[in-house]
Amino acid sequence: MKANDIRSENLKYVLFPWSRQSGLNPTPVTKAEGIFFWDADGKRYADFASQLVCVNAGHQHPKIVKAIQDQAAELCYMAPSIATEARGTLARMISEVVPGDLNKVYFTGGGAESTDYAIKIAKAVTGRPKVISRFRAYHGASNAGISMTGDWRRAYNEPAMWGVLHAYQPYCYRCTFGQEPNTCARECVSSIEELIQHENPDFIAAIMIETVPGAAQGIYMAPDDYLPKLRALCDKYGILLICDEVMCGWGRTGKWFAYDHWGIKPDIMTTAKGLTNSMVPLGAVVVSDKVAKHFEENTLWSGSTYSGHALACAAGIAAINVYKEEKLIENSARLGTVLAREFQKLKAKHVSVGEVRGKGLFQAIELVKNRETREYLMSNKEEPYATKGGMSGIKKVLSEGGIYMFTRPNLLVVAPPLCITEEQLMDGVRVIDKALDVADSMVETRAAAE
Ligand SMILES: Cc1ncc(COP(=O)(O)O)c(C=O)c1O
Repeated sequence: MKANDIRSENLKYVLFPWSRQSGLNPTPVTKAEGIFFWDADGKRYADFASQLVCVNAGHQHPKIVKAIQDQAAELCYMAPSIATEARGTLARMISEVVPGDLNKVYFTGGGAESTDYAIKIAKAVTGRPKVISRFRAYHGASNAGISMTGDWRRAYNEPAMWGVLHAYQPYCYRCTFGQEPNTCARECVSSIEELIQHENPDFIAAIMIETVPGAAQGIYMAPDDYLPKLRALCDKYGILLICDEVMCGWGRTGKWFAYDHWGIKPDIMTTAKGLTNSMVPLGAVVVSDKVAKHFEENTLWSGSTYSGHALACAAGIAAINVYKEEKLIENSARLGTVLAREFQKLKAKHVSVGEVRGKGLFQAIELVKNRETREYLMSNKEEPYATKGGMSGIKKVLSEGGIYMFTRPNLLVVAPPLCITEEQLMDGVRVIDKALDVADSMVETRAAAE
């Protein structure tokens, strides 16, 4: 099909997510390989977003494609109550790479569904009805997922799931409490304790966090003692800690799973995306031995037709093997150091760069108009999160330079497939450097206008 035909058929028959449908102009893509994809006109893009931060092993990885083909030829589907080799093997492999005593897996269809099941499990295990998540967080678009999500998207979906409380997050660059990390008293933790006490700890089943937040204006990095303090708070009140590793897991931050950077262990972890390199949809809720024990004598009142689908599990097995064989987690850690160094240079050069942050191949640049006041470059007084517009000039330079990036207003995120080489990374950094010239010119334009 020609580019225009692909686009027009999509526009006529598909409801696109998170969008008003009129005026959309989706890029038709026909081919992808490694860190690249090509639009239908043959233009090549380096995928510095891994699509939705999910193609961690690179596009069309031949070993994963082959595993899916082989599984399709052998056995595509069996009901979840039946034992299949692919499901058992993948669950074992997940328990082997997930740090801590999280050894049992409930398979889901993706990230949001994993949020749903994690919450159900936490409520069943504790017998408590409410859960806490944070404002700057994204946990999916299902009813439970969007309720746990704290950012502006939730409001458009409410009323949704009852019993979710939102807490403030350790976003130190824009601290809610007006503090700096080296002098504060970790109000981002003590305020959660206050919330727990107001609500009555006996009613709180779990605190759910994105270990390193992504899609909600993210990649803000908590102080190193935040997670240990949060773990201790959970233990004090018998509350379960759920780490959402849907985006930050599978080597994205330079370790298999991000919580391992801080030496803590959650009671429940949710995952999806990189689990299968996103080549077949699959999510998982991985639970600790203690949580799993609850279900030895108590029924798990949940299930779904596609839980542990054989094709998806075969993709998962192959993806984990690729992460190991090609040392992709190690590559993410190594190139993360290179990227952090380059981002520091960009910060020194460009007046519009307020903060650079992140870990591994999951790092962000936050744009400001004024480094002293930290005012957003594209501030929008009506919307506290500055969710609209303003990035088109920057995105144009990125696109012309053949770089596809995950952007939010005032935020540029670098999250390429973990198989990227240093040379390819540096090519991208040079394009970002040019895009930041546009951001700098916006600082000057705004300053002149005032
Ligand atoms: C941290 C996090 N949790 C959950 C989800 C939802 O996953 P899915 O889109 O597979 O439902 C996402 C999606 O981006 C995510 O980033």
